[in-house]
Amino acid sequence: MVVSINLRGKTAIITGAGSGIGQATALLFAEAGANVVIPDVNLKGARDTASQIRRGGGNAIAMSTDVTSSKDVDKMVRSALDKFGRVDVLVNNAGINTKFRMPFYEQPEEDWLRVIEVDVKGTWLCAKAVSLEMIKRKSGRIVNIASTAGIAALRLQSNFVAAKAGVIRLTQAMAMELAPHHIAVNCVAPGSTLTEGVRKGLYANKAWAEKMLTYIPLGRGAEPREIAQGILFLSSDLASYVTGHTLVVDGGWTAGAQVRDV
Ligand SMILES: NC(=O)c1ccc[n+]([C@@H]2O[C@H](COP(=O)([O-])OP(=O)(O)OC[C@H]3O[C@@H](n4cnc5c(N)ncnc54)[C@H](O)[C@@H]3O)[C@@H](O)[C@H]2O)c1
Repeated sequence: MVVSINLRGKTAIITGAGSGIGQATALLFAEAGANVVIPDVNLKGARDTASQIRRGGGNAIAMSTDVTSSKDVDKMVRSALDKFGRVDVLVNNAGINTKFRMPFYEQPEEDWLRVIEVDVKGTWLCAKAVSLEMIKRKSGRIVNIASTAGIAALRLQSNFVAAKAGVIRLTQAMAMELAPHHIAVNCVAPGSTLTEGVRKGLYANKAWAEKMLTYIPLGRGAEPREIAQGILFLSSDLASYVTGHTLVVDGGWTAGAQVRDV
């Protein structure tokens, strides 16, 4: 027996798919046959992802969307329905980390709140708008992207830690409320993932990177596509009895009991 994931005829909205994990997820979903909707504040990145999908023979549309704006989010859902007629999967991937790594008692209020706004409020707003459509059809799957920082606290990014812990609990609350409507809500918690931003940022510091890797049992950061694979699983019928779950994709980082300095 050959087991495969086939999303042909299904439509997935993947927020923040203009780069990184979201882009890898959009490309993987298109390979699985899905129509892909790509809302991002970075319209250029969103268009680039959509072009890559169309060049490969898939269907995709890009749009400028700020997930913290209910006006933008409502427009995102309307555009998806106008173009593809239905929304089967929502991946709440758009997210930011703090601009200022510093103790919580020094972080500026504006920066602290913006991370909570994009990561938590954005997830709630998109899920709210999309689930109203899914409830009408009594089916759908939502996957929220948290972080291992929502499971084990990191120093100097308290807003990110709080936001991602919030996303994990929000996932469970949504799963309970949407289960009677046959809609599953799950979460993926990525560990350190080698997106372009992370490679050029944190991993450019060789000393930091070497230390970080000693805390990851598999000894390397994740490729964005490896996170996308977890997202695809939770978006598929293979996960038909899974809801309210957080799938940790971290090369074993959270399994370790070491004291972590990075
Ligand atoms: N890369 C990692 O190591 C890592 C680890 C754990 C969790 N994550 C999470 O994975 C998700 C993707 O991260 P990434 O590493 O690919 O980052 P990234 O910066 O490459 O991608 C994030 C995307 O979200 C978009 N975005 C930001 N704010 C937005 C808003 N208000 N509205 C719409 N789009 C917005 C950005 O333009 C960008 O395209 C995030 O939720 C992040 O917190 C990443």
